[in-house]
Amino acid sequence: MEHSRLLELLGEMSLEEKINQLFQGNSMFYEEDGIATGPASQQGFTEKTIRETGTVLGIIGAAKVKKIQKEHMENHPHHIPLVFMADIINGCRTVFPIPLAQGAAFNPELAKTGAEVAAREASASGIQVTFSPMADLVRDARWGRVMESTGEDTYLNSRYAEALVRGYQGDDPKQPGKIGACVKHFAGYGAPTAGRDYNNAELSERTLRDDYLPAYAAAVKAGALMAMTSFNTLNRIPSSANRWLLRQVLREEMGFDGALISDWAAIEEIMNHGMAADRREAAKLALEAGTDIDMMTTCYSNHLKELIESGELSEALLDTSVLRVLELKNRLGLFENPYKDADEEAEKRLILCQEHREKAKNAAKETFVLLENNGILPLKREEKTAFIGPYVEEKSMLGAWSIFADPEDTVTIREGVTSYGANALFASGCSVLDPQTSIMGMSELYKNAKTQTDLDELLGEAVDTALRADKVVLCIGEHVAQSGEAASRGDITIPECQKKLLREVARVNKNLVAVLFNGRPLDIREIKSLAKAILVVWMPGTEGGNAITEVLYGKTSPSGKLPMSFPCCVGQVPVFYNEFKTGRPNDAQSKNRFLSRYLDIPNEPLYPFGYGLSYTGFTISPVRLDGNTLTQEGTLTASVTVKNTGKRRGAETVQLYIRDDAGSVVRPVRELRGFQKLWLEPEEEREIRFEITAELLKFHDIHMKYQAEPGSFTVFIGNDSRTQNQAAFTLL
Ligand code: GLC
Repeated sequence: MEHSRLLELLGEMSLEEKINQLFQGNSMFYEEDGIATGPASQQGFTEKTIRETGTVLGIIGAAKVKKIQKEHMENHPHHIPLVFMADIINGCRTVFPIPLAQGAAFNPELAKTGAEVAAREASASGIQVTFSPMADLVRDARWGRVMESTGEDTYLNSRYAEALVRGYQGDDPKQPGKIGACVKHFAGYGAPTAGRDYNNAELSERTLRDDYLPAYAAAVKAGALMAMTSFNTLNRIPSSANRWLLRQVLREEMGFDGALISDWAAIEEIMNHGMAADRREAAKLALEAGTDIDMMTTCYSNHLKELIESGELSEALLDTSVLRVLELKNRLGLFENPYKDADEEAEKRLILCQEHREKAKNAAKETFVLLENNGILPLKREEKTAFIGPYVEEKSMLGAWSIFADPEDTVTIREGVTSYGANALFASGCSVLDPQTSIMGMSELYKNAKTQTDLDELLGEAVDTALRADKVVLCIGEHVAQSGEAASRGDITIPECQKKLLREVARVNKNLVAVLFNGRPLDIREIKSLAKAILVVWMPGTEGGNAITEVLYGKTSPSGKLPMSFPCCVGQVPVFYNEFKTGRPNDAQSKNRFLSRYLDIPNEPLYPFGYGLSYTGFTISPVRLDGNTLTQEGTLTASVTVKNTGKRRGAETVQLYIRDDAGSVVRPVRELRGFQKLWLEPEEEREIRFEITAELLKFHDIHMKYQAEPGSFTVFIGNDSRTQNQAAFTLL
């Protein structure tokens, strides 16, 4: 539809119609017989609001979407279509690894492929926009939503955010099989005080701009149709009411011109935070700040009319937001085709098809991180191996946001190993959760009804099984509902019943491999002390069992690198590689007490950002620079030669870090500014190059000016964030 027609349509709409266009409801409003009453009316939503609403979330299924859309447009005074939105975070029905796992692949193209698959399945099921990518930088493993991020590094997250937008939207989200992207949670949601969800984030403007904002900006630059405000207060201002953040930073500086939606009830929560006396004031503050859509509260629908009629808000302000929502529908082609790709036949053909399963399996294999291996891996098909642990037959390994997927579609480890034809024994040994505990997930209550007697019996069987095997693969980890939204944890270890299983099995069989399921970095010191190999598989998705089997048996070498540091214990958190030196840098050899360190734990994480092993070995040559000075407009080329020195094909992710040796403000000890993942055959070697420009050296200086300051810099090139393989240059 031409923009001029949109303006005409806007002009034809009544004040109430325009206001209702800014409301987003969910499936509870649409019972089988059409407009719901029940919970909706009990929560103060009127029939008119629902009849004239602009968007809806959480409704999926081609037939259901088409029915609702048809009825909605028939009932709407101007027959304006709904936009159907949903959380398609790491897949729709074919589930890919959680985003934190995908970050471990150091392969944004892989994430783009996953987003393309998700978009194909979701759009056939009627979804037109996904609430993804989540571009929040995360440094605190206590926070459950680290599982939705791609990790602790700004540069890595930015590459992923843009890749995901391109995967969902393609060149034009109107195209078949494409959906709109919504970058979230703007901004600074990943820095909640004490790692407790929904808590205040206190960030200096320099930290916000240098570390937290670039990934959102990358998604906006890639063309994300929408953005979502975050629950948290940023420096004591709720994001949905933060005019500076939304108008100056997001719209003026980043150039975002799409529709901005609040997170669930976040507008009403301006009142709970204590910045609005009531919903009326919350509505005023949010619209003034530029939040266009009110997700799931009556703030806009019940209060904007009086605010405008009283002159406290201008109708022009309202029109600006309504026009953005109409533009969104236009960018999705909904005025011409309100059903977009909803198609029952396509739904049947695409969902969980073999091509999608294969892509999910290949993605999962690249996300696994091998933290330890004394040579016990890869396994041999013929050697008797006992697969023991609650994850041997567990199907819930899809991640907390796989809300439209059916765990029954998951391939378990037992199924994967069995179809591989390995010489294997199996025993669960215990439950994932401790006895008699229950935990609320995103969509269901998980209960472990097993009694201690049950567990004692399971444990006994497991120990007997371990005694009969050459090797043991212990399949343990967090419960899927122990990460995700509202899943902050103060203790980041595995459940007690699993620790007991680990100890008892290790007592009778030392040839122990740990396969770890987790939605966050965990404190795995005890596992490290007892296992001869540790493979982190995160929450690997629908094809998890097959992917884990193929990596354990060496069909593919593990190639993942940690996208987030694994702390040695929760007392270290937040811990991240690009920290600051301090005025008293720690020196483990020094006897000087007065250094920046702990009395009882090391400063260094157990495993650092960028770390991960392979079944083969690699050498990386000393860094070569094609000069030792760089001008503001010039390019400096850094190169190394990488060689596979082992007997297996494998991948190495070569990482480029840069340290600004001195700045007008203190600078991190190093920052990732490039990475290349290369697969090499045994004995194969390859030269790789990185182009360094002043753009990579920019930061917000003492005057908050974004620039690269002349001076000395150090380049590090290696296979994790501790590499000392370095060379120096000067920026002129
Ligand atoms: C949730 C989440 C957000 C999600 C939204 C809609 O509370 O914070 O990430 O997209 O609500 O489900």
